[in-house]
Amino acid sequence: MTKKIVLIPGDGIGPEVVDSAVKVLDKITAKFGHNFEYENAYAGGAAIDKFGNPLPQAELDKCNAADAVLMGALGGPKWDNLPGDQRPEAGLLRLRKGMGVYANLRPAVIFPALKESSPLKSSVIGDGLDIMIVRELIGGIYFGKRGRTGDDSAYDTMEYSAQEVKRIGDVAFKIAQKRSGRLTSVDKANVLENSRVWRKAITDYSANYPDVELSHLYVDNAAMQLVTNPGQFDVIVTGNMFGDILSDEASVITGSIGMLPSASLGDGAIGLYEPVHGSAPDIAGKGIANPLATILSAAMMLRYSFDMQAEADAIESAVDAVLNEGFRTGDIAVDKSTAIGTVEMTNKVLEKI
Ligand code: IPM
Ligand code: MG
Repeated sequence: MTKKIVLIPGDGIGPEVVDSAVKVLDKITAKFGHNFEYENAYAGGAAIDKFGNPLPQAELDKCNAADAVLMGALGGPKWDNLPGDQRPEAGLLRLRKGMGVYANLRPAVIFPALKESSPLKSSVIGDGLDIMIVRELIGGIYFGKRGRTGDDSAYDTMEYSAQEVKRIGDVAFKIAQKRSGRLTSVDKANVLENSRVWRKAITDYSANYPDVELSHLYVDNAAMQLVTNPGQFDVIVTGNMFGDILSDEASVITGSIGMLPSASLGDGAIGLYEPVHGSAPDIAGKGIANPLATILSAAMMLRYSFDMQAEADAIESAVDAVLNEGFRTGDIAVDKSTAIGTVEMTNKVLEKI
């Protein structure tokens, strides 16, 4: 099968980890007889440096013309003093919106081999952790009306329509159906009017999925439950900002933020795939970044955008095998003196495939 993939290496460790993922994809093409064509695009700090704009229209157009987009990470201290709408992050938000990828899937799993890396007690973790956070990605407070009302005051607005809630709800119910049949919707309906719309819309919509058991939690309670009893969660659906916060929390309790991939999907097959971690400017260029989150993001791309299940399985099993053999990059190594670098880790995965 021929597929066109746009690569956005981005900033910081982004180029290094995207490089690793491309090597893995090339191995997959050789093994399974596919043909992946790559094109590079600029976004974030790299695009500011080259074009003076964190996402020029031509770069967005390239992305929308591809079968899928694989991104490293965007941002860094170099661009921190720019006005909000010119920062690297603004480019990322425009990319998500411009691609229409409203459903952000963020799996938080504890890899059995990495159980000792979680900051939670093993009695709290129990048998392990496997949570899928479904975050609404192109609405809510990230995209609401905002502005300054003076030098020292400003506002941001959070709005959701029932239609937006049902659209993300549909994705979450379908995922819950394929997993445990349980879905937790997270909001702040005791305070926020838009959360009351959210809760009613998702409850109404649940009638279409009688086989899924829907429950609701306020976001503060959900944040607490994630560290006191994470095993109760299977699929969580929530809005843009709550999902941003809860997905960082969920990822860190797995002990392996450097390991977690994500997929952002819209109505078509095209998706945007990126690791959950950031650009880590402090270790950029040192060859020590963990490439596994981006490699696993590439696996999600094969699974969700290309429907290549065996190929995705091959990558995920290779990562499992490498971890089981004890290979670790510095971020997940218990004994840091045994840590291996980005290229070595990538080569280990290639060997296993
Ligand atoms: C994320 C990041 C982004 C977000 C930033 C970089 C804009 O934190 O993908 O979780 O807030 O969505
Ligand atoms: Mg975040």
